[in-house]
Amino acid sequence: MDVIDIIRTKRDGGELSAEEIAWVIQRYTAGEVAEEQMAALAMAIFWRGLAPAELASWTTAMIDSGDRLDLSEVGRPTVDKHSTGGVGDKITLPLAPLVAACGVAVPQLSGRGLGHTGGTLDKLEAIPGWRAELSTEAMIRQLREVGAVICAAGAGLAPADRKLYALRDVTGTVESIPLIASSIMSKKIAEGTDALVLDVKVGSGAFMRDLRQARQLAETMVELGTAAGLTTTALLTRMDQPLGRAVGNAIEVAESIAVVRGEGPADVTHLTLELARAMVQAAGVDADPAARLADGSAYEVWQRMIRAQGGDPDAPLPRAAHRRTVTATEEVTIGRIDALAVGRASWQLGAGRDRPGARVQAGAGIEILAQAGETVRRGDPLFELHSDTPERFEDAEATLAGAVVGGEHQPADRVIEKVGT
Ligand code: URA
Repeated sequence: MDVIDIIRTKRDGGELSAEEIAWVIQRYTAGEVAEEQMAALAMAIFWRGLAPAELASWTTAMIDSGDRLDLSEVGRPTVDKHSTGGVGDKITLPLAPLVAACGVAVPQLSGRGLGHTGGTLDKLEAIPGWRAELSTEAMIRQLREVGAVICAAGAGLAPADRKLYALRDVTGTVESIPLIASSIMSKKIAEGTDALVLDVKVGSGAFMRDLRQARQLAETMVELGTAAGLTTTALLTRMDQPLGRAVGNAIEVAESIAVVRGEGPADVTHLTLELARAMVQAAGVDADPAARLADGSAYEVWQRMIRAQGGDPDAPLPRAAHRRTVTATEEVTIGRIDALAVGRASWQLGAGRDRPGARVQAGAGIEILAQAGETVRRGDPLFELHSDTPERFEDAEATLAGAVVGGEHQPADRVIEKVGT
């Protein structure tokens, strides 16, 4: 087989065989197909797409590039959630303990933020002592004893995706439905969960700005999951506005704790409960997440989950050294607060990183002080900016200049529709 023939076949709109796909991914993982050749193939796939049989082979080859976890020892049904990423999306934090409190085990392998969307691990690392890295044995033990784990994916899980995602990130080939679907689903299938609920975000703060494309991505992932034997459901949810009132790291942890104690903002609590219901249903368990939130059992699991990974759930969270309030420059009835502007501004304040491996500021971020539906007057507070580096305030303020959009406001319910069983 020859990689140049494979690239030419895809470039010219032909279909690759399962053998060709397995060969090219295996050789790429081993470093025998050059990065520039894989970049050319990714660009050919970006333009030509993958037929269903090719997509299935591509996903299988990515899974086979590494280990498959065996969660059979956990002793309860397992269900994971994956979000395609958004601004203020801290849902994993309250959701994992809530679903565990319903009797389902939640193996939540998560990532770090890059760009304007935050990363679950960066948020949790704001908790003093908390560790993201766990061995597979420690992860399975925690699933058995606590029922929920949120940790970093080990290097052995779909290593082909790890390489390919980094390459796509720098070659303009991220926004391809077959490449996104196979990237996400190869990791989830390799992780060994019984069921999966996908939160596919649509809107200004999401990868997918357009409902039609988001639906196609959701359907593609549900088909891949179902074919691999996972009970897979997707919710299409709105991401035009940040979720909740806090965007950043420690301040999102504080808001998540409020949600898991039943005292959180309505939009975050509502979406957490919707996803929890879908997860419990996908796991085949008859339980009421709202009751587990109300009776304090979700909060109890949260504390045990944080302690099991070295964190102190009662320790004060880090606060940024400097704050600045941004006020309204004119009277306006707020239709929405733009998710992308708030995400970018939070990143500029130090909550996110501009290159892999950079350090994030635990205390940095934005508190949203005015909400859609409210009328604010000139001088009223809109945002509170938090940063250890006050010289960043000016750029963040400039980014937020157009963030408040006047007009009709959307309902608090973020769910647009459900795809799959
Ligand atoms: N998240 C992933 O894991 N992969 C993609 O391709 C896009 C988002």
